[in-house]
Amino acid sequence: MRIAVTGSIATDHLMTFPGSFGDQLIAEQLDRVSLSFLVDDLQIRRGGCAANIAFGMGCLGLKPVLVGAVGNDFADYRSWLERHGVDCASVHISETQHTARFLCTTDEHHNQIASFYTGAMAEARLIELQPVADRLKGLDLVLISPNDPDAMLRHTDECRRRGIAFAADISQQLARMADEQIRQLVDGAAYLFSNDYEKGLIEQKTGWSDEEILDRVGVRITTLGPKGAVIDRKGEPSIHVAPAPELGKADPTGVGDAFRAGFMSGLAWGLPLERCGQLGNLTATHVLERVGGQEYELSQRGFLERFSAAYGPEAAAEISGHLRCYHP
Ligand SMILES: Nc1ncnc2c1ncn2[C@@H]1O[C@H](COP(=O)(O)OP(=O)(O)OP(=O)(O)O)[C@@H](O)[C@H]1O
Ligand SMILES: [Mg+2]
Repeated sequence: MRIAVTGSIATDHLMTFPGSFGDQLIAEQLDRVSLSFLVDDLQIRRGGCAANIAFGMGCLGLKPVLVGAVGNDFADYRSWLERHGVDCASVHISETQHTARFLCTTDEHHNQIASFYTGAMAEARLIELQPVADRLKGLDLVLISPNDPDAMLRHTDECRRRGIAFAADISQQLARMADEQIRQLVDGAAYLFSNDYEKGLIEQKTGWSDEEILDRVGVRITTLGPKGAVIDRKGEPSIHVAPAPELGKADPTGVGDAFRAGFMSGLAWGLPLERCGQLGNLTATHVLERVGGQEYELSQRGFLERFSAAYGPEAAAEISGHLRCYHP
């Protein structure tokens, strides 16, 4: 199955200020703020929804095609992704802008001052999927994950026009897109991903009920945080997929992306939806156990053992012939 993963590609620069922002802000001078914080820690983490999802699929043994826009500072990140099995040949490189970047400083009271620089991501709207399909001799599924809003609309529209199945994953972009745009992104999707909060927001913004949404999409997958996930199809009973027990909790950032990586891998292998959900849950658990969205490694034996412990040996036997856990 040829799967393209479209969406954001970004890096996070996370700094820690060993003091209090509040102490530096002078109430009478807020009209001319000029502050510099001497920070004592900088962590640079690879991220972006599409990059996180493609990374996860690569770690499970697939060769997903990443589609997004970056700057010419992408070389290191590209080789990291390629080492993990991601096809980066369809990534658009901007001639003028840097790769999207999230800059965040946190003080000792967990107050944060952050900026998100969109940069090259705005050029994702220039990307056409047809050349990607031509290069791969066809595309079976395109995931549309959070990105430049115009790019999300364009990719969805192109899939619809060309009859390519698409999976809708609007996530954090729900907040900034108009109701009509959300309807365009959802209608006709083969798969619709969201968490349970976003599920309500999609219903509110589209004006479509739970039932109506199931009329318009093939399969709806709703993640429930520590409660796992639920998979719905019109006229069929819901499938509840229990979470995979975690060994510890470090940081939930990126769990949603990892869930999608596992789920899409199950789809690529032609497995039943329940198995896809279980793969999603266990991949997500690996992210939960590390700080950062791409800091985990999957080992073939370890993954199968955990899968078997969580979902039983028969379920594990079904995935073992497909799984090719890989880390360089
Ligand atoms: N505490 C937990 N224990 C086990 N699994 C968890 C836990 N929290 C999350 N997960 C897994 O991660 C998946 C996605 O979690 P969640 O529904 O919180 O996504 P999300 O809100 O989109 O997260 P984010 O956008 O921050 O990545 C869940 O379906 C589940 O498999
Ligand atoms: Mg999410």
